[in-house]
Amino acid sequence: MPGTVLIYGGTGGIGSATARKLRARGYALHLVGRDESKLAALADELGATMTLGDIDDSTVFARAAAEAGPVLAGLVYAVGSINLKPLARLTATDFERDFRLNAMGAALAVQAALPALKASEGTASVVLFSTVAVAQGFTAHASVSMAKGAVEGLTRALAAELAPKIRVNAIAPSLTKTPLAKALTGNEQMATAIAAMHALPRLGEAEDSAALATFLISEEAGWMTGQVIGVDGGRSTLRTKG
Ligand SMILES: NC(=O)c1ccc[n+]([C@@H]2O[C@H](COP(=O)([O-])OP(=O)(O)OC[C@H]3O[C@@H](n4cnc5c(N)ncnc54)[C@H](OP(=O)(O)O)[C@@H]3O)[C@@H](O)[C@H]2O)c1
Repeated sequence: MPGTVLIYGGTGGIGSATARKLRARGYALHLVGRDESKLAALADELGATMTLGDIDDSTVFARAAAEAGPVLAGLVYAVGSINLKPLARLTATDFERDFRLNAMGAALAVQAALPALKASEGTASVVLFSTVAVAQGFTAHASVSMAKGAVEGLTRALAAELAPKIRVNAIAPSLTKTPLAKALTGNEQMATAIAAMHALPRLGEAEDSAALATFLISEEAGWMTGQVIGVDGGRSTLRTKG
């Protein structure tokens, strides 16, 4: 039995695709989400336990860790935001909210789950989410790129601090067709134009990142830690035109 994985953002596009893939590999799941009906339906489908809570409520981390049980094989923090505004329109509240949701939430989630991750029989694995917009600068991304840059620093710091018992890695997707990115992917003209900017010219599917998350959680990735890996059709590193 591969053990239990705690998934924050389990009802999201990438979170739910990861939950389904982990379940198919035999992992037990504890899902955290803020939408009761979506969360209950997915928990029912996957035979998972669940914690209802919002990241804005700081009690969610201790509750989720307590309800997930005393031993965890892994933790996935697939919560996030895309708050795109030019610098002149960003407020202190925007910056604080994006940082809390994307970066501090990830740190507090791992902190609360630490005793259970340390109790794992083998090596436990943590998977966090960054974005392609950290490696590649984009306009209107100041707040989200800053918050996700913190996730990349957190990934390396925790990977060092928690080795060798707990592996910590992050995935940095490019634009992926999930509810989060609907404002961009829902506009066909914009979606086609953005897809064409990738060396592999399409948008991401939730399954693209979920496949890597599942691998990183598994023992197959047992010698990988402290890595930030792009699932981005080459967007962070390649230019094929011009
Ligand atoms: N999609 C992309 O283009 C893209 C690109 C780069 C990075 N990412 C990152 O990939 C990860 C997964 O995102 P996704 O694309 O799967 O987005 P998604 O479908 O919107 O999923 C995000 C999840 O976070 C949850 N969430 C948001 N705010 C929350 C809050 N305050 N409290 C509790 N839960 C909250 C959402 O809950 P609800 O279901 O209730 O809304 C949802 O389950 C995120 O870290 C995101 O930043 C995505």
